Amino acid sequence: MQAKGAYPSFTSRLAFIIAAAGSAVGLGNVWGFTYVAGANGGGGFVLIYLLALAFVAGPAFMAEMLIGRMGKASPPTALGELQASIGAKLSWPTIGWIGLVGTIMVLSFYAVIAGQAMYYGLIALQGGFAGWPEGAVVALDADFKADPLAMALWSAVFMAFTAAIVSFDIRTGIERAGKVMMPTLFVMLIGLVIYSGQTGDMGRAVDFLFGFHEINFTSRLFLEAVGQAFFTLGVGVGGIMTYGSYMGDDVKLPRATFWIVAMDLFVALAAGLAIFPLVFASGVEPTAGPGLVFLTLPIIFTEIPGGAFVAFAFFLLLTFAAVTSSISLLAPTVARMTEGRTGRPFAACLMAGTAFIASLATVYSFSDGREVYPLAALGFDGLTAFDLIREGVSNFILPLSGLAYCLIIGWALRRDDVRAALPMADGRLFTLWYMVVRIIAPLAITALFIGAVLG
Ligand code: PFF
Repeated sequence: MQAKGAYPSFTSRLAFIIAAAGSAVGLGNVWGFTYVAGANGGGGFVLIYLLALAFVAGPAFMAEMLIGRMGKASPPTALGELQASIGAKLSWPTIGWIGLVGTIMVLSFYAVIAGQAMYYGLIALQGGFAGWPEGAVVALDADFKADPLAMALWSAVFMAFTAAIVSFDIRTGIERAGKVMMPTLFVMLIGLVIYSGQTGDMGRAVDFLFGFHEINFTSRLFLEAVGQAFFTLGVGVGGIMTYGSYMGDDVKLPRATFWIVAMDLFVALAAGLAIFPLVFASGVEPTAGPGLVFLTLPIIFTEIPGGAFVAFAFFLLLTFAAVTSSISLLAPTVARMTEGRTGRPFAACLMAGTAFIASLATVYSFSDGREVYPLAALGFDGLTAFDLIREGVSNFILPLSGLAYCLIIGWALRRDDVRAALPMADGRLFTLWYMVVRIIAPLAITALFIGAVLG
């Protein structure tokens, strides 16, 4: 139990790293990475993605954590305090508030996708998929999407689960969830990769993910790769800033960043190596897009030995990955609300309810609104509400907030103060990171946007 009034904290360095890795490892790694990499031609895309992780999103991730640790409050409050500490004129809390809106946007589609994963997990638990005719899987997906009520219901179940965990204090809720779910997720994932290696076509999967194929280097491809790098680490909405505010001063930030990024990358690549060997062995198209996980894979599960069990393991993995991220998406708004007199359970329910209502836009996009493009008149033809929310948050809010964090750490705050907040960091490592945050990452993000506008 925390002493009343004391600012909450994780119990240990490891607890922080597990929670933060839980935030990073999410639907983005399994559902997102595989389909974005698949749809963009494999190796070349993965290379840009790796560079974006190392030189843009990773350093920005550390900057965001550091802001949380320095400000020790919810994102708008932490940013406000840092602003006050140097007497800057621009309103820094605004960046925090935009981030909070971003958390609800991400949650709104997260809940629908995770809801479908839970539903499929339940079907697999009842022995589903194994031995089904292919048409049954297609019908399952089509029926689910034709039933907005079912989608909304599963979205509500997922949000309720998320709210329940966040209602508890940090150590009993968020920390414990990570400690239970993350190791399970790793074990299941490694098991799936081994299984895929034995039953599937690993050679082609490796070539597809890491080999260089014909690829069109468009500005959109760069935006997708950088957007995916930001999304996968979860930089830019204040989730990791909030967790950063709960970490002890003994956490070595560069080392923690390294481990979190490494685990995140490991899960994305391992998910690719679990999924694509099966995809290739059964001769289906790797470029299936978002349907890969809910259409292509389940069809494969119908044919393989132990299909129901493998399907259950896979969807449970996906659900766990989603929950450890969704709690980090709900934590920032709850942190802000509990700075007043509001209690955690009430704040968690209210914000989860808000995210659930927002999730109805995605439910609509997947069902009756499949061909409704709300902003077509503004030049965004062909994009559903879901596309607009997903692309808006991962390709705009995340990189732009990331840019703001880099500018705050690299230019606005005094170098000595930043250095003092990282006492254990090696001097050369600090200089390198500081230069990346000050110059390389901002230039890369700016170039990306100029390219996107001109391209
Ligand atoms: N990193 C998560 C994923 O890859 O699915 C998504 C995410 C989590 C985004 C936390 C933002 C965040 F604050």
